[in-house]
Parts: sequence; C-alpha cells; structure tokens
Amino acid sequence: MTERDFRFISSDRFFEEYWGKKALYLPNAFPGFSSPISAEELAGLACEDSVESRIVLEKGTPAWQVKHGSFSEKIFSQLPESHWSLMVQAVNLWHPEVNELLEHFNFLPRHYLDDIMVSYAAIQGSVGPHFDYYDVFILQGSGSRLWQLGEFCTKDSPLLEDADMAILKQFKRREEYRLYPGDMLYIPMQQSHWCTAIEAGLSYSIGYRAPSLNEFINRWIEHCSQVLDESIRLPMDDLKNASPTYVPESFIDQLQRRLKKLAENRSLIASAFAEMTSEKKYPDEESTEGVCYSVKELKSLLAHSTCLRQREEARFVWYCIHNKVTAYCNGQQFDFDQGYERLVSLVFDHRRIDKRELIAHSDDPVALDFLTKLVNCGALYFE
Ligand code: SIN
Ligand code: CO
Repeated sequence: MTERDFRFISSDRFFEEYWGKKALYLPNAFPGFSSPISAEELAGLACEDSVESRIVLEKGTPAWQVKHGSFSEKIFSQLPESHWSLMVQAVNLWHPEVNELLEHFNFLPRHYLDDIMVSYAAIQGSVGPHFDYYDVFILQGSGSRLWQLGEFCTKDSPLLEDADMAILKQFKRREEYRLYPGDMLYIPMQQSHWCTAIEAGLSYSIGYRAPSLNEFINRWIEHCSQVLDESIRLPMDDLKNASPTYVPESFIDQLQRRLKKLAENRSLIASAFAEMTSEKKYPDEESTEGVCYSVKELKSLLAHSTCLRQREEARFVWYCIHNKVTAYCNGQQFDFDQGYERLVSLVFDHRRIDKRELIAHSDDPVALDFLTKLVNCGALYFE
C-alpha cells in the first residue's frame, strides 16, 4: 500500500493494527472516484449464463428472498422501487476497468484474491445482518450506503430460520459509517455487518480468502505421489515380536519419520501451493483467443505493439527455491535457471506489462519462449 493508493495509512500499520482484527474506514480513499461500470452494464452481466449473480429482495414472503441468475432483462422492470439489491460475482474477470482496481491492492498477495463482487442496491436495498468468511474492502462506486458493523461471529452464531440466506438472528451495532463514492471500508473476516442503501448506487467488494488447509493437503498429496514410485514401500524391518494382527507403536513412529521427510521437501509444498492458487476461478471457461505465434513473430510484435497486458481471468504465481524461479500461470508450470526473478516479476506483477523494461529481455531466447507460451495460451495479449 502506498501513500498514493489509500491515503493516510501505510501497509505496515494496516497489517499490524487492522488486517484480520478490526475494521478500517478510509474516507476519500479514491479521490474523485467514478464507477468504472454502470448499473446497466452490471444488469447486462447478470443476464449472461456464464456469470454468477443474485437478486436479494427484503420485503417478500418470506422476508429475505434470493433469486439466482442468470436473469432475463424483463426481471429488472418488475422489481419494486426499493428494498432490493443485485449482486454480481467476479466482475473483474469480465470487465477490464474493474480489474484495473486491483492495481491498488498490490500490497496483498493476489493469489488470495477471491473476486471483485459488484452490487447495485435500490434505495433501502440490503442483504441483512450477516458475516462472511473473507476479508473485504468495500469501495463505494455511486450513491451512498450506511454500514453498521457488529460483533465477530462464528459458525455457531444463530441465524434466522425462515430466510433463503444466512441472516443473523441478533445484531449488536458497534460502529457505523456512511460511504459515498470513493470512500472505502475494510471489514475483517467474520465481523458481522449490515449495509443499507441510503441513495441507490453501486458498491465494489474486493474480497480476499485463503484456500482451506484441506484443499491444499489434497493437492500436496497429488504432488507427492508424482515423485513416489511403486518401489518406495512402507517400512518392513523391525518385525520381531509382532503378533500377526498387531501394529506396534514403533512402526507408527517409523512411518511418521518417513512422512516428516516428505514434508521437508519444500519444492513439493511450493509447487502444490502455486499450482493450486494459479488455477483459473472458472476453469471451464474457454480462453478468449487461440493464437499460435512463433518466437520470431512474438519478437516482432513486442517491438511494434504499444502494450502487452494480462488477460483478466489469468492467474500468476511464482516462487524461488535455491535461487531457481518456478512460475505458474493458470496451473501451468514454467521452470527457470538462476537469474530470472526480474523477468518473471515484470511479467506477473502488473496487469499492464512495462514494455520498455520488457524490450531489455527481447534478445534472450528463454524470455521470448516464456512470453510466446503465455501469449499463445491466452494469458497475455497485445493491445
Ligand atoms: C452488498 O454489496 O450489497 C453487500 C455486501 C456484503 O454485505 O457483504
Ligand atoms: Co457481507
């Protein structure tokens, strides 16, 4: 986080005092902010089959009804004047300008980004008091909303029984903020909140969530099994004194030592993590373009195009063990010898890749091969 991004607070102070602990209100965090997406465009996205969306109505029977998209255009003309909101997930994947907002969040690991959800709320629109299992930055895009924040909750916090969604039975307000365009509010995971639109408008929820340990272990096991061939067997020594059906504790100890040794392999841990977190959010979605440039063509495009950009849905993760870089893009692995940190960071860290710096690598066959593969698989494109 830089002074320029969210005024008045450094990233060190943010992590020390707020991240995961308490809410932070940042009035005018984005001075002069103008919403990159309009309410009409958002409604258009909610009509697409491939986009996850929902409409929440407060005053139905039962109260708090949720309808899941995709929607037909007709539904928008049938909604009441007030007390409803439309929520569209992962708008960053479909809208490049919304995706650009992420450049302001480069102080956080992008592989923990869940998505940017954009909501439009009619006057008095609300999704009720609830809590979420992610840390979220709320950025007001247009109109204004009142955010009430309450206690931290757990899976045991009582919920309303007759609602379509998880609404808290009790909500005790501890703080309250009114957000106008450009204002931002950070809400830590599991802190209850209740937001109501005072003036109709758009809000951006930039949500971060770590994958579960369970998901990671499953991936790690897959990576372990790739290096363990059938000849590596469980211990068969020290068999004396065993009853034919008894498993001695010494055997369990031996097995545990073997597993610890496997867990000491940092490459397996890193590759499992990077592969998992670099996979696309919607893996079944087809890549927008199927190009097939040669390295020579790529070199010429680099020299003549104005900009090389990351595709919105592409995900990039890299690590360095024993000075060797391993890079993952959309679950695909790229191995490098020593000295490639700068290239990989240049290509992976920003949505628009700095062409002037990239040109410096354009005589390196390894760099050209890497860029060609990334462009041909649709992760990067020339603008
Ligand atoms: C909204 O944007 O309408 C509500 C988001 C939330 O409370 O998590
Ligand atoms: Co919420």
